[in-house]
Amino acid sequence: MDIGHYLNQKRDEVDRFLEKVVPAATMPPTILHESMRYSLFAGGKRVRPILAMAAAEAVGHCPPALWPVACSLELIHTYSLIHDDLPAMDNDDYRRGKLTNHKVYGNAMAILAGDALLTLAFELCSQRELLNGLEPAGQVRIVYELAVGSGHVGMVGGQVFDIQAENQDIDMATLQRIHRHKTGMLIRAAVRMGAIVAGATPAQLTALTGYAEEVGLAFQVADDVLNVTGTREELGKNANTDAQRGKKTYPTFLGVDGARTFADECVTRAIGHLTSFETKADPLRELATYITARKN
Ligand code: IPE
Ligand code: IPE
Ligand code: MG
Ligand code: MG
Repeated sequence: MDIGHYLNQKRDEVDRFLEKVVPAATMPPTILHESMRYSLFAGGKRVRPILAMAAAEAVGHCPPALWPVACSLELIHTYSLIHDDLPAMDNDDYRRGKLTNHKVYGNAMAILAGDALLTLAFELCSQRELLNGLEPAGQVRIVYELAVGSGHVGMVGGQVFDIQAENQDIDMATLQRIHRHKTGMLIRAAVRMGAIVAGATPAQLTALTGYAEEVGLAFQVADDVLNVTGTREELGKNANTDAQRGKKTYPTFLGVDGARTFADECVTRAIGHLTSFETKADPLRELATYITARKN
């Protein structure tokens, strides 16, 4: 399969759906909606919604509920980036090729835009009419997965571990815990949510969760590598910021080549979880490889 074509097609689907459900910039409070849209439509890769869709395809069923469920992940992810870039966190000036949200709208509005994206994600997942074809019990499971993946034992918890590790002499186990939470848990939620919407069996869900945990770790290791090897033009965000902020990353421990090898090993293990899915899981296999080979 042509993964480039697949990614473009899915990205367009995600963008079209988001455009429909995110309030227009002309709706009051206009500054809030403008600020939310500024970051949301700045050109993200849409990896998390695409993973949800590919997981549903692997199970073999893509009901209409898949789109709101998949897009809710992008709302959470974009909120996490806006807050991650704030002066009180990573203090970054560029994101997705543009000035960061707080550089344009100020800290207060950036915090509120993040808050509103976070809550909109749950609104989207719990709207009855958007979830045609999904049983109420399935809908509750989706909301639960989203909460776990993004909250205190998920992305937010990981961000706390990340901040606590700044300028500390951490070991690799601690680093892995940071990555598995700050990035891995939302990716895990993405794959599981897509699988649940598609009606995965318990065995399928277990296999897909194993895949997602490896891909989630590989994704952040690749981000660490790109932080060392990429340029602002390629990344759409400043490079070398991890070292500047005293963050130890996989390249710190293993070197760039060692970190790349580590990520490739995660991808091999991820793909190893997919044997029972045959060709329907080809998009997931290709996505795992893309995630470590990407240039931004
Ligand atoms: C960047 O995520 C932050 C991490 C969790 C590594 P992405 O690389 O998915 O960023 P966008 O959404 O494409 O901008
Ligand atoms: C981002 O991690 C993880 C989030 C939960 C937002 P980083 O801080 O390492 O990602 P970048 O490099 O800013 O995108
Ligand atoms: Mg960070
Ligand atoms: Mg950051």
